[in-house]
Amino acid sequence: MAFPPAFLDELVARNPIEDVVGQYVTLRRSGSNLFGLCPFHGEKTASFSVTPDKGMFYCFGCHKGGSVINFEMEIENLSYADAVRALAKRAGMEVPEDEQYQSRYRQQERLWALHKEAARFFHTKLYDPIGANALKYAYDRGMTKSTLTKFGIGYAPDSWTDLVDALRQKGYTDQELRDSGLVTVSRKNGNLFDRFRDRLMFPIIDVRGNVIGFGGRIMNNTDKSAAKYLNSPETLIFNKRKNLFALNLAKKSKLGYLILVEGYMDAIALHQYGFDCAVASLGTALTEDGAALLSRYTDQVVLIYDGDAAGQNATQRAIPMLEKAGLQVKVLQMRDAKDPDEFLKKFGADRFRLLLEESSNRVEYQLAAILKKYDLRDDDQKVKYLQESAELISSLGSSVQREVYAGRVAEAAKISLDAMKLEVQRAYKRRQARQKKQQEKIDLAPARNLQPKSRTIRYDNMKSAMAEEMLLALVLQEPALLDQTAPLTKEMFSSELLGRVYAQLSQRHREGLEVNLSGLTDFTSEEMSHIAGLVQRNQGPVNEQALLDCLRTIQREYQTGKVATEADLLALRDKMKERKGIRA
Ligand code: CTP
Ligand code: MN
Repeated sequence: MAFPPAFLDELVARNPIEDVVGQYVTLRRSGSNLFGLCPFHGEKTASFSVTPDKGMFYCFGCHKGGSVINFEMEIENLSYADAVRALAKRAGMEVPEDEQYQSRYRQQERLWALHKEAARFFHTKLYDPIGANALKYAYDRGMTKSTLTKFGIGYAPDSWTDLVDALRQKGYTDQELRDSGLVTVSRKNGNLFDRFRDRLMFPIIDVRGNVIGFGGRIMNNTDKSAAKYLNSPETLIFNKRKNLFALNLAKKSKLGYLILVEGYMDAIALHQYGFDCAVASLGTALTEDGAALLSRYTDQVVLIYDGDAAGQNATQRAIPMLEKAGLQVKVLQMRDAKDPDEFLKKFGADRFRLLLEESSNRVEYQLAAILKKYDLRDDDQKVKYLQESAELISSLGSSVQREVYAGRVAEAAKISLDAMKLEVQRAYKRRQARQKKQQEKIDLAPARNLQPKSRTIRYDNMKSAMAEEMLLALVLQEPALLDQTAPLTKEMFSSELLGRVYAQLSQRHREGLEVNLSGLTDFTSEEMSHIAGLVQRNQGPVNEQALLDCLRTIQREYQTGKVATEADLLALRDKMKERKGIRA
């Protein structure tokens, strides 16, 4: 839906970009820009810029950019409209909404409120006489009272409709109860029953602090028929692939890295023992969405999965996903206990800190995992070990890294470094050949050829496009200059994208609205990034003569371009005639 331009202007004015970005990124001033570490790609040097007086951000590393609305979209993974809504909420503004949206959003808000109510219900029951067993179980597992409070842990009574009744009493409709996923519906008569019964309840809270679902654990391990954990089903507000347990707490950690574990209990124990940067995935393996979410809050992740084979497989699968999200990965190999929870209880925080310090980078971890598979006393196995290690080493980006690890493997297998390097080189060539083939396949894919990703962004006439860029940068800096560009229409722009930008800016200027990036509508995030990039590229003092030069260049290129096209058309027509003549 389209929001009224005046509303959007006020929204942008009341959400200064440096404040909004500042909630996620530490910014330092440098001239008229602020710089920080880009939240959208992993980096060590600050190439992410915010320009408050232009209301824009731009990363010189990954080339993402745009207005405060685009930032909100990217960082919170929201649609344009939802980003506007989030910013409105932040600034305490009422959003002019259409009916359909209002109903969907109201539905979400009702579900968040319902879940908060349910969490309160469960938490209260934990201290009720009927929760005595559950409370004892929690204490027996070493949770302190303050941990129970911090995580909002609760107890779902062994009843059919206690929660259903409580929520109905609070005014929630049966439809809302059904939408919440907290009830089951009888197939016989459609009656509603509590989904969670006689379980210790872990509220799942998103990064904005909304309770969005629950995990419930049975408390006796003897009943083999019941699943140990029962989780909320997917609902309008709960997507288990896109959220992580305890991230709402861990995102505030000062430790500078995040720990990713498998279990709720592991995350909770880590927090209790002072490692307040622990998060757990939600009853699934880590997903790409989960990795991207992590990368918003840190650039280093320590993976601590269970020591068993399943945990080690999950580790190997998680590593490339995390690296793809720009994260540095370390792996802590669980020893002398099956998981962090058990380890902490057996040996305490200090011993755990030692393990953490020992945790290896992912290459060391993966090489060790390969080594474990083979018996180096057997020549055949030794060759396989060398080949597989070479394969891994050949995938490393830095030659120093390749050299170092080749040396370690050579030493382990007692062969010469030269022989190992040769093996790595061979693996490297094989890898390149493979990648080339894959690339060819991609290039030949017809859908991709028909629909190049940045079609609207490509420049056909560089000379004109450079002038167009400069002109836009100038009027964005000094909107009054738009009074002098009257002869220019969007058709004269060689770049369709830049023409569209120009048309919107000059229309806003005519209507007395703010002329800035935030006023642009209907541009893709890729297009917005490109626009922010051109503004950054063309920064400089405002200069009227420069504007007039640009104007003239654009007009001239348009004129000659038009002549050329007309000539081309004429030539084409002549050719067609000729061919017809021959046939006739
Ligand atoms: N899990 C699940 N459903 C199950 C078993 C496990 O969703 N039937 C998920 C839960 O998110 C759980 C995680 O997988 O936290 C890891 O499982 P596990 O290691 O068995 O659980 P812990 O959290 O370590 O719980 P506990 O120590 O109480 O056994
Ligand atoms: Mn456990």
